[in-house]
Order: sequence, then C-alpha cells, then structure tokens
Amino acid sequence: MPSATARAGANIALVKYWGKRDARLNLPAAGSISITLADLLTRTTVSPLADLDDDELLLAGQPVSAERIVPVLERFRALAGSDLRCRVETANSFPTGAGLASSASGFAALVVAADAAFGTALDAARLSEQARLGSGSAARSIFGGFVEMAAGQRDDGTDAVAQPLLDAAGWPLEVVVAITEAGTKSVSSTDGMNLTMQTSPYYRAWVDSVPADLDQVRQAIAAKDFEQLGEVAEGSALKMHASALAARPGLIYWNPATIACLHEVRALRAAGTGVFFTVDAGPQVKAVCLPGEGARVARHLAGIDGVEKVIETRLGPGAGVEA
Ligand code: PMV
Repeated sequence: MPSATARAGANIALVKYWGKRDARLNLPAAGSISITLADLLTRTTVSPLADLDDDELLLAGQPVSAERIVPVLERFRALAGSDLRCRVETANSFPTGAGLASSASGFAALVVAADAAFGTALDAARLSEQARLGSGSAARSIFGGFVEMAAGQRDDGTDAVAQPLLDAAGWPLEVVVAITEAGTKSVSSTDGMNLTMQTSPYYRAWVDSVPADLDQVRQAIAAKDFEQLGEVAEGSALKMHASALAARPGLIYWNPATIACLHEVRALRAAGTGVFFTVDAGPQVKAVCLPGEGARVARHLAGIDGVEKVIETRLGPGAGVEA
C-alpha cells in the first residue's frame, strides 16, 4: 500500500468550544466557529507497512508514544478492511513546545493522510467526523477560512461535524500569536473542560449563551462586520475563561503578559487599529487583525514585557493531500 502525506493548518476559535456532551466520542456541548491559519502547519505521512507489528509515531524524527493515534488508524483499517500497521511521521512548522495547540492540525493531517493511504475516499464531512474523534477542534481544521462546527444531536455523532462558512480569500484577516510562556504545560483542554463541567456554577450559563454568539458571528462574517465579529469573539473567549475561573480549583490560564497583551489590543483598537483578541486554554494571546494591520499589531505585542515571540499568519486553506 502506498504512503500518503497531508498538511493541515491549526485553527483558533472565535466562538469557543468548551465542554462535551459525550466524552467518549468528543461530542461538543455547543457549536463553535473558527478560522484556519495558513502558517501554523502540521505535515504528516502515513505509511501502511507489511513488516510492522505495531503502529509507530515519529514527531520531528523522534519516536514518541502512538497511543493517541492508534484508535484513528484502527478506524481506517476497519473501513479499508486492512490489518496493516503504520509508520506515521509528523512535524509542525511552528515551534514545538511553544504552548500552541497542535492537536487540531495534527489530527486533521493524520486523518487526511490515512484516508489517502488506505484509499477510503471519505468525503469532507466524514473526514471532519474522524478528526473530531481525535480532538474536538481538529474537526474544524479539515476546512479552510471561516468554519462552523455543529454540536449535532445524534448520539452517534454523525452530525457533529464542521462545515466551511467562507474561504480565506473571502475575508483575508491576519492573526498575530503572542507567545508569553513557551513550553509551560497548562491543564489540558479536555481536563479543563471536565473540571469546568463538573464544578463550575457558570458552566450551564456558558453553554446556554453559545447559540446566540454563533448567530451573531455567522452574521458578522456574512456582512464582513469586523466590529461585531470582535465584540462577540472577545466576549466568547472571556466567558469561556470566566466559566473555567469559577471551577474548583479555578483554572487560571493567564499570566501577567497575557493580560498586558489584552490591554494592548484594546488600546490599539481605541486608537483606531482593527484588532481584537482571543485566548485558548493556555497563556498565549491571539490577535485577529483587519487585512494590512498584522505587522503593526505584531510590533506592539512584541514590545510587551514577557512576550517571548510573536508569529504572524494569514488565514489558510483546509487540510489536503500533498502531491
Ligand atoms: O479540541 P481540543 O481538545 O483541543 O479543545 C479546544 C478548546 C479551545 O481551544 C480552548 C477552544 C476551541 O474551540 O478551540
């Protein structure tokens, strides 16, 4: 069987996913909307080989545990009627250990490469479903540009998949990632979500508030209304963190530089720059900018005490096989 290589971009949510309605199938408690990034890429090669007893995973050339990817490969083997084990080689274009989530681009690239290697020819919705089983946010990285993930209603999760809203060229926003703490391990998103669900008095209010945000962000994207997009996206990130802060013990993902970046983004906006922030389950800040504003925002964030590095990127395409 031939090997296949695929690429996928990381994504960041504008309306956050925080909480599962089914932990085993990674079914989200609510929908989410994200943007896929061009320059934070995972490239993965899947080689089904007759002489392997177990699946193997190499991250940037180094052998690492294959535990998280074996279930994904098992499903492709079942679909293809094959029992071939795989060598999987994967690498990220962005600095590893920078505290940027690589599971979204990683599982999206894995699923697309496995689909090509095993010849299963799944359509994009089914690839999204397979990626979701690896990590909830990975379902969105199958598509480029602006992407909406459905919560779905079915118990089997077949309707909990992402779909594209608008491609990257349709509204070429720019994103600046400010790394405030490279290498520090936060509480994982899965553990953070579980703790929030189990102990935060604000969890229900958070989940109930998401559908209205989805409506407003969908409208803002359709109308290219940056002000509305930023207002709802900042609100979604802050509400997600508020629900996590109210867990027991409270989840504090931010450090002083994180907060300094949030204030800087608001100061830039007050002075007329088109920019808003979002923050995921870690201390890095993502600033979403109007086309042409990224370089200026990057300069400002790079000058903040405690910011170790900034990465500038445009929006990018969905996951795809390399020729
Ligand atoms: O899919 P996970 O387990 O990487 O969770 C993603 C959680 C957030 O990044 C905080 C929000 C999101 O929607 O991406």
